[in-house]
Amino acid sequence: MAEIYEGALDKGLEGVVACSTAVSSIMDVTLCYRGYTIEDIAENSTFEETTYLLWNDKLPTKNELADFNREINTYATLDPQLVNILKTIPSKNVHPMAWLRTAVSLAAHFDNEAQDNSPEANKRKGLRLLAKMGSLVTAFENIRNDKPVINPRNEKSLAWNFLYMMTGKEPDAELVKVFDMCLILHADHELNCSAFATRVTASSLSDMYSAIVSAIGALKGPLHGGANEQVMLMLKKIGTLEKAKAFVKDALANKEKVMGFGHRVYKNGDPRAAILRKMSQLLTQRMGEPHWYEMSAMMDDVVQAEKGLLPNVDFYSATVYYSMGIPIDLYTPIFAVSRISGWVAHAFEQYANNRIYRPRGHWIGRQGLKYTSIENRK
Ligand code: ACO
Repeated sequence: MAEIYEGALDKGLEGVVACSTAVSSIMDVTLCYRGYTIEDIAENSTFEETTYLLWNDKLPTKNELADFNREINTYATLDPQLVNILKTIPSKNVHPMAWLRTAVSLAAHFDNEAQDNSPEANKRKGLRLLAKMGSLVTAFENIRNDKPVINPRNEKSLAWNFLYMMTGKEPDAELVKVFDMCLILHADHELNCSAFATRVTASSLSDMYSAIVSAIGALKGPLHGGANEQVMLMLKKIGTLEKAKAFVKDALANKEKVMGFGHRVYKNGDPRAAILRKMSQLLTQRMGEPHWYEMSAMMDDVVQAEKGLLPNVDFYSATVYYSMGIPIDLYTPIFAVSRISGWVAHAFEQYANNRIYRPRGHWIGRQGLKYTSIENRK
């Protein structure tokens, strides 16, 4: 008879410590990247510098950062043959995250080191993925709108190039700063669902691209990265400030989830939400549509009062992106443009100290059945 596993069942692995990590930490309401608080990093760093920190466990010197930026620039342009193939895959009525999942998988075929799992090759592949993620997302935006794919400019940041490639226009410096800060805030978050997916795939010693494709699939879901676009769709559905309170009360009474609230780890607030809240207030005002922020703030108060839940990173990032004129269904792909930084850091860490993830399932099915031939089945 097969062994029936009797270990403790922890649905959703809440509270399970599945690996050691030194990439980022969450302690009560404090999020740190490699020991630096998110507030400190968001205020003083750039996304590239943050990524260097996450990958190398140290802030770069001027020269190290210049080299890192140069390498990113070298890799950011998509292979024209890859672009031609991307133009042939369906882009209309397709979720951008589904398209991105396929695009990253295709990009592996244009990387002659795809199967090389040495630390040196993995470092280069991490850089290529970091450099290309924004190029892929903006290529999607242009392809689906029957516009030419725009190449990134040399000596510009990932944030600058993303906004440039998306619109075809040189972006406003203030918006670049805001966008860069959003990329920093989303760069890593301890053992979140998609980082875990990265590590699970890497733990079989599969390649970096496969690990990242797993992560994109995990991030797509509405309980994880997909929540940011759901927040904006919800706000648009509610429409006015007057209707916001009743909407939240009805949703909670019907045991429906209000998107952008709650968190598995933060029970006393998500520090990223506090930063994004201020950005949302500023930007919605600047675009002349402060009601999006006012509705959000009102919902924040009601969910807190009624259910004791606080906003997570996705709640205020929705109105920040909306104010920047970014199409709603690109919010989650933008999360990937940032989180590639953390996923790669987790893949490095997993490969460097690996043991395959192989938990057990608590058996609740039948036992001891005897095979019945098809003629004798009812
Ligand atoms: N709206 C209403 N009620 C909620 C919400 C919410 N957003 N989140 C949790 N709850 C309630 C649950 O219904 C449950 O209530 P009950 O005890 O009365 O049954 C209780 O709070 C506990 O919630 P769980 O779903 O068990 O919490 P869990 O830790 O499993 O899930 C999660 C965390 C997925 C983030 C959840 O809060 C959620 O679904 N939020 C909405 C989606 C979202 O915003 N996701 C983004 C998370 S951040 C990120 O991944 C980038």
